[in-house]
Amino acid sequence: MIQPCLFASFLALMVSAPAMASQALAQKNACMACHAADKKLVGPSYQDVAKKYADQKDAEANLVKSIKAGGSGKWGPVPMPAQAGLSDADAKTLAAWILAGGK
Ligand code: HEC
Repeated sequence: MIQPCLFASFLALMVSAPAMASQALAQKNACMACHAADKKLVGPSYQDVAKKYADQKDAEANLVKSIKAGGSGKWGPVPMPAQAGLSDADAKTLAAWILAGGK
């Protein structure tokens, strides 16, 4: 009975490793100062963002744009500053991670 157990933990590792890398990226870029996965801080929670754009075509590409450029007025009166130092690749990773709920 050891084998299925090993297989399950291997699967768990495969699934959680990229998510952890994305979270580290979000921490490194200070996103977590204003955002959390499941509650509103300065900005909307990642789950609310994921819900809002769940049915949108090109949601990921649009989020890449709004993460890099910042924005205002979509969620409330507080603007999000532009993330000038963020690479396209990192913005894409973060957008996909947020659309998956940002955990
Ligand atoms: C200074 C606080 C702050 C920081 C830092 C910040 N955000 Fe935001 N973010 C906000 C606010 C406020 C909004 C809502 C803006 C609005 O109402 O349009 C927002 C909105 C968003 C949205 C939704 C955009 C949309 O089009 O609906 C995403 C996605 C997002 N932020 C991701 C990020 C990521 C990723 C980072 C790090 C690279 C980050 N944010 C850093 C405050 C911040």
